[in-house]
Amino acid sequence: MKTFRIAVIPGDGIGKEVVPEGIRVLEAAGRKFGLTFQWDLLPWSCEYFLAEGRMMPEDGLDRIRHHDAIFLGAVGFPGVPDHVSLWGLLIPIRRGFQQYANVRPVRLMPGVKCPLADRKPGDIDFVVVRENNEGEYSSIGGRLYEGTEFEMAVQQSVFTRHGVDRILKYAFDMAQRRPKQHLTSATKSNGIAITMPYWDERFKAMGAAYPEVRTDQYHIDILTAHFVRNPHWFDVVVGSNLFGDILSDLGPGCTGTIAIAPSANLNPEREFPSMFEPVHGSAPDIFGKGIANPVGQIWAGAMMLEHLGCPEAGQAVLAAIETVLASGPRTPDMGGTASTEDVGKAIAQGV
Ligand code: NAD
Ligand code: IPM
Ligand code: MN
Repeated sequence: MKTFRIAVIPGDGIGKEVVPEGIRVLEAAGRKFGLTFQWDLLPWSCEYFLAEGRMMPEDGLDRIRHHDAIFLGAVGFPGVPDHVSLWGLLIPIRRGFQQYANVRPVRLMPGVKCPLADRKPGDIDFVVVRENNEGEYSSIGGRLYEGTEFEMAVQQSVFTRHGVDRILKYAFDMAQRRPKQHLTSATKSNGIAITMPYWDERFKAMGAAYPEVRTDQYHIDILTAHFVRNPHWFDVVVGSNLFGDILSDLGPGCTGTIAIAPSANLNPEREFPSMFEPVHGSAPDIFGKGIANPVGQIWAGAMMLEHLGCPEAGQAVLAAIETVLASGPRTPDMGGTASTEDVGKAIAQGV
């Protein structure tokens, strides 16, 4: 019997509603596959901020450094400015634990109504690999000449060779392992004339080591149009922090609902714990109604099982998700009337 120590951070809003369903399903998978979990529940959130003046304790990262993984709901809620909450909790975990590879699968699942015309399951099945530690998300910069007519805000993007090469290598390795062996790079080297030409240059250099991987690149503007018009073109799509963020909401938007999309924040070297969460946020507009779709959280749990070395358990959870999406209870975002708990229980039963 394997036991895993998991740091659980439900966080804010519907994070608090979908995380328990994730745990319910992982427990069911554990019973079936002989795994046990020690769930260490951490209250770090905007509520915690309002009481303590910070999003997590000062030694927060040290408290979870030796866990096997982190299972997170969502961070951010009205009452605390988003940049304060996110830079106080989510982003420090991603960076502090060198979770530089953000893996976000995009798949049209059987039974989910596709907003794009004439698309069926199998047509859309790709992975967004997002750089998760640097790029456009930087704290370098500031406001100048405040209160004058010359007032300005300046923020630097940071693209280091180390940071760019390691995410490109991760994406090429992934593309090489997949049947289609195709990698697309999101760029904008026509307009962003320093960092993006650098990104393209490193992409080309890295590609030389992967002759079997077919590559292409698109500027981010037309790439978003291709996501909508030609989603079947894509296999693995690699992008900077901001481009990857946008593409990983757009992709799931094209496959029906962002609420089912999972996200793995990986430290591939396994020097630090990796973190698993849904792509979506805390959805304050539906929080408290018990109608949040828990599938993104549960699918993130399936990715966590894979990462923990239990691929069969992960696949069983994904199969149970597929069955429920095809013919089980549905939350209102998918046109149904079921509750968060109904969906979680149905998936747990199907594992
Ligand atoms: P959001 O993803 O929270 O919500 C966008 C829309 O999708 C809303 O209408 C919401 O009701 C709906 N939605 C999202 N998840 C759903 C689910 N599981 N079931 C049903 N409907 C769902 O994005 P937002 O409104 O831009 O952000 C709200 C807050 O969440 C902000 O504070 C934002 O910064 C934060 N956020 C956090 C994360 C994270 O922790 N990783 C990710 C995105 C946004
Ligand atoms: C995500 C979110 C975060 C991001 C925000 C909340 C900082 O949108 O996980 O996709 O941009 O990384
Ligand atoms: Mn996002």
